[in-house]
Amino acid sequence: MDWRKEYSVGVDQFDIDHKTIFDMISRLEAASTNLSSPELQEELFETLMEYTDDHFEREEQFMREVGYAGLVEHHGLHAEVDEELHRLYRKFRDGDEGIARDVVEFLREWWFVHILQVDMAYNPTK
Ligand SMILES: [Fe+2]
Ligand SMILES: [Fe+2]
Repeated sequence: MDWRKEYSVGVDQFDIDHKTIFDMISRLEAASTNLSSPELQEELFETLMEYTDDHFEREEQFMREVGYAGLVEHHGLHAEVDEELHRLYRKFRDGDEGIARDVVEFLREWWFVHILQVDMAYNPTK
């Protein structure tokens, strides 16, 4: 999953965050494709979820600071994906090891749409 400059949301920290998240998704993808140990997959999954939460917090803090009008709606979308990630994580913990691939598919699609259509709306350089 490669980051491109068209994905820039005009805030360096968030571009770095998005790149980091893309890297984490790629690492999870590699682990699931190579049938790495469930322990490693779980660790990558957890790290990804924690980092995603930190990113959402940073973004929402920024929107609060600049008085961004779409904050509530944007927060709702973050909360929704967070809930879905926790649901998938529970399935993984219940022994559904193939779930890592579903997570990767789901997140790849979600992040492209979210960055290009939702995050882009707070871009201060546009
Ligand atoms: Fe974002
Ligand atoms: Fe966002």
